[in-house]
Amino acid sequence: MARFAKSRLAARLQMLVSERRLESGLYGEILDHLPLKDGDTVLDVGTGTGLMLKAIVERNPGVHLFGLDISQEAVKCAREQLTGLTVDLRQGDITSTNYENDFFDIVTCNASMSYWKRPLAAFDEIFRIMKPGGQALLFEPRANIDVDHAIERIKENMADKSIFRRWLAAALNRFGLTRGDKVGMKRYSVAELCELAARSRFNPFFKVDKIALQGIPIFARITLTKTLE
Ligand SMILES: C[S@@+](CC[C@H](N)C(=O)[O-])C[C@H]1O[C@@H](n2cnc3c(N)ncnc32)[C@H](O)[C@@H]1O
Repeated sequence: MARFAKSRLAARLQMLVSERRLESGLYGEILDHLPLKDGDTVLDVGTGTGLMLKAIVERNPGVHLFGLDISQEAVKCAREQLTGLTVDLRQGDITSTNYENDFFDIVTCNASMSYWKRPLAAFDEIFRIMKPGGQALLFEPRANIDVDHAIERIKENMADKSIFRRWLAAALNRFGLTRGDKVGMKRYSVAELCELAARSRFNPFFKVDKIALQGIPIFARITLTKTLE
């Protein structure tokens, strides 16, 4: 991962983006896809500033919350955001964690996989730490998308916001979707994601769908299932 991405400035910028995601209902929409129930242990990988964890516990107060991020600065931000909540936050790389085998019911991840240096090792680690019967649901912007259309939808979604906020969101998203490789981001096609999952320990129990979130049709939903023996 690029050094900048682990910096305090990157964590602060991430906070602006995450606050917008929370405000817009994006995390709530992702939550609609997660089959959470009381007592579940849930891990948010690449949790960043932790606002997704906040959204999870607000809707599902009976779950046990865990968050992992490779950036110490992001973990610090998440700790501030989640003060007063019972949550296990750790700094670490998803390719090699210190969670027990067969531990999580649900693993989720939003917009982090694009930064993983070793995605296959990460999938295999998620397999190890997930309970048999558990599911991982990863949401990522994918490759081969119509960027102009996506930016138009983002601006429409922010029609009630100031011109400056619309401009900033459009600029940040356009940069991420067209030049994200400059900050260590790789966007995968559906075929590449399927190939990756097929090489992982999840094979053949995976599915990759193209989905829209917030009406923006640029995402891949990667569902990885660890079957009961
Ligand atoms: C674009 S941010 C997304 C944060 C959050 N999921 C959200 O929705 O706002 C990507 C996050 O993934 C983290 N990350 C990148 N590579 C990682 C890895 N190998 N293991 C764990 N976290 C990682 C970064 O530090 C960063 O906080």
